[in-house]
Amino acid sequence: MSLAMSSADRRPLSSRVHTAPHASRAPDCLSSMPLSISSPLVECRDLRFGYGDRPILDGVSFTVPRGKVTALMGASGGGKTTVLRLIGGQVRAQSGSLRFEGQEVGALDRAGLYAIRRRMGMLFQFGALFTDLTVFDNVAFPLREHTRLPEALVRDIVLMKLNAVGLRGARDLRPSEISGGMARRVALARAIVLDPDLVMYDEPFAGLDPISLGTSAQLIRRLNDSLGITSIVVSHDLEETFRIADQVIILANGRVAAQGAPAEVMASDDPLVRQFVHAQPDGPVRFHYPGPTVAEDFGPRAAAGGRR
Ligand SMILES: Nc1ncnc2c1ncn2[C@@H]1O[C@H](COP(=O)(O)OP(=O)(O)O)[C@@H](O)[C@H]1O
Ligand SMILES: [Mg+2]
Repeated sequence: MSLAMSSADRRPLSSRVHTAPHASRAPDCLSSMPLSISSPLVECRDLRFGYGDRPILDGVSFTVPRGKVTALMGASGGGKTTVLRLIGGQVRAQSGSLRFEGQEVGALDRAGLYAIRRRMGMLFQFGALFTDLTVFDNVAFPLREHTRLPEALVRDIVLMKLNAVGLRGARDLRPSEISGGMARRVALARAIVLDPDLVMYDEPFAGLDPISLGTSAQLIRRLNDSLGITSIVVSHDLEETFRIADQVIILANGRVAAQGAPAEVMASDDPLVRQFVHAQPDGPVRFHYPGPTVAEDFGPRAAAGGRR
């Protein structure tokens, strides 16, 4: 099911909203680059994936434009984390195509996967920090694992990233000594420490108070723009996520129910999308497990017949 937009414009989103008119014609100096700047960073076509024989994604297609914040939303258990794992090559789709920088992720060998993963930062659900390491050492961890940079350079990079999230002064504290919101920001600094092209945030706002939530959301937006990265944010928080995202993708029933700018998605009259963006408990995604109707269970006949 696709987004039922009120406008008749059904060109791909990238050509409507995100692509500057001149960007499709690369200047000569860039002609040797394998891909044009305007091509999507991630391109997903008709992806099918299931755990065992239980289908989770049933023909999912979307694109993630460069330099933008893309929100991936949908009901719990709908396959959002699975999409991130497919992009990172942790799992492989049964069919369809998933390209990162034009490379088919599912076809990469170990070395190829390692190379693309270095270009991706990931903030996991509940962004676990190492509890026995300081804030500094937590952020330094990926640098020490993946590079052989001298310690003086590690220090400068870590402090720069901590500065970007406002926690340069907290470098010597341990996770038990900082608030949940601060811990999330440390995890954010760690996710960007290798200067990735793409950062994927899996429910970065879960469990945060409203102020920390707002701060984290603004930070994701600011880091995206100041570092020139591309961000995918999986989130349930409609208001804050719609505020910071350039485009929203809504997954429902194993498909992409909508992909578009926040205002477009908000204005959609597709029932599946409406149910989600207006947080209605019942609609095409059913609240009630299938069973007898209310009338059958509570009506006069039920009372008379002692039905259960
Ligand atoms: N490793 C796994 N093995 C089997 N089923 C899984 C596994 N991981 C997730 N699932 C199931 O796949 C569905 C989609 O999961 P997930 O992608 O985590 O959803 P979301 O992130 O949208 O909540 C869920 O029903 C979940 O229980
Ligand atoms: Mg998840």
